[in-house]
Amino acid sequence: MSPRALVTGGAGFIGSHVADALLDRGFHVVVLDDLSTGRRENVPSAAEFAQLDARSAEAARLVREGGFDVILHQAAQIDVRRSVFDPVHDASINILGALNLLEAVRAVATSPRFVFASTGGAIYGDFVTPPNAESAPKDPDSPYGIAKLAVEHYLAYYGRLHGIEGVVLRYANVYGPRQDPHGEAGVVAIFCARLLDGRPLTVFGDGTQTRDYVHVKDVAAANVAAATVALPAAGRLDLRAMNIGTGAETSVITLAETLRRVSGRPGRIEFAPARLGEQLRSAVSVAKAQHLLGWKPACTLDGGLKETFDYFAAHTPQSVSA
Ligand SMILES: NC(=O)c1ccc[n+]([C@@H]2O[C@H](COP(=O)([O-])OP(=O)(O)OC[C@H]3O[C@@H](n4cnc5c(N)ncnc54)[C@H](O)[C@@H]3O)[C@@H](O)[C@H]2O)c1
Repeated sequence: MSPRALVTGGAGFIGSHVADALLDRGFHVVVLDDLSTGRRENVPSAAEFAQLDARSAEAARLVREGGFDVILHQAAQIDVRRSVFDPVHDASINILGALNLLEAVRAVATSPRFVFASTGGAIYGDFVTPPNAESAPKDPDSPYGIAKLAVEHYLAYYGRLHGIEGVVLRYANVYGPRQDPHGEAGVVAIFCARLLDGRPLTVFGDGTQTRDYVHVKDVAAANVAAATVALPAAGRLDLRAMNIGTGAETSVITLAETLRRVSGRPGRIEFAPARLGEQLRSAVSVAKAQHLLGWKPACTLDGGLKETFDYFAAHTPQSVSA
């Protein structure tokens, strides 16, 4: 019989790729998503779909009765700015949603493994020179980051007290096909959309701020590994928390220039005032994921950006020619 996986947030950007990758590995996949930002058409046709809120009693029942081997919890409120002006809403989804599912996992006789989508970009402070290892000091400066770190602590606690097998994947800046170009999160998707409709690429500050851009297919492969690989016993926070990125820092200006080059679109770059409080440098070390999951990123930035641009070009009706 096929192993069974529940992918929450599987109608979203990353979750839909996780669902695809699990199906490719022979899993029976159920997607749980309330479609608050996700799209029904992102859910692979071979997956079952349950339109449910992660905080609901119905979602808890699905977890208790679904016979899952693994739950990959990708559903979240992902807008960092929204978390700043409405931390209650953020915590309601990002903390209570996860807790609702964890309490249900606890009630299952043979608990499924719980893989949690955390963040490597929003929980490490500016204390050490990147790339950050998992043990780097945590100092989230947004309610979004605080909620992610809180759930990591809950997972460690559920591991110690209830023996639940938690795995934490701290994603760097994920990019690729299906990312929302209208959202706050994805500069690559925003730049692709702007190149396609002839608007300039806006760079805040001098553009030297760096991020670690990881392709969504690499993130999906890390989730498959986290769902399937034997891991050391659960327990202390950080033991089963792994960064998922590339370890490389890319400046926003380099990103913009690389996209212009690989897309063949001239696109103008315009500068806007630096954003208050924006982190200057961010990248994560991936040695631990390589060691524990046998995973490492496979996509090059040039290749990944080209593929992503081609995807948006094929899916943007108002696309104008260069
Ligand atoms: N995109 C990134 O660069 C990045 C970086 C670090 C961490 N993450 C994490 O990865 C995960 C996936 O992010 P994404 O970029 O694919 O975002 P996304 O918005 O595309 O996907 C999130 C999905 O969760 C669903 N959802 C939201 N609230 C829900 C609820 N209460 N119940 C059920 N479903 C709900 C949405 O409808 C959506 O389909 C999130 O947990 C996010 O915090 C993303």
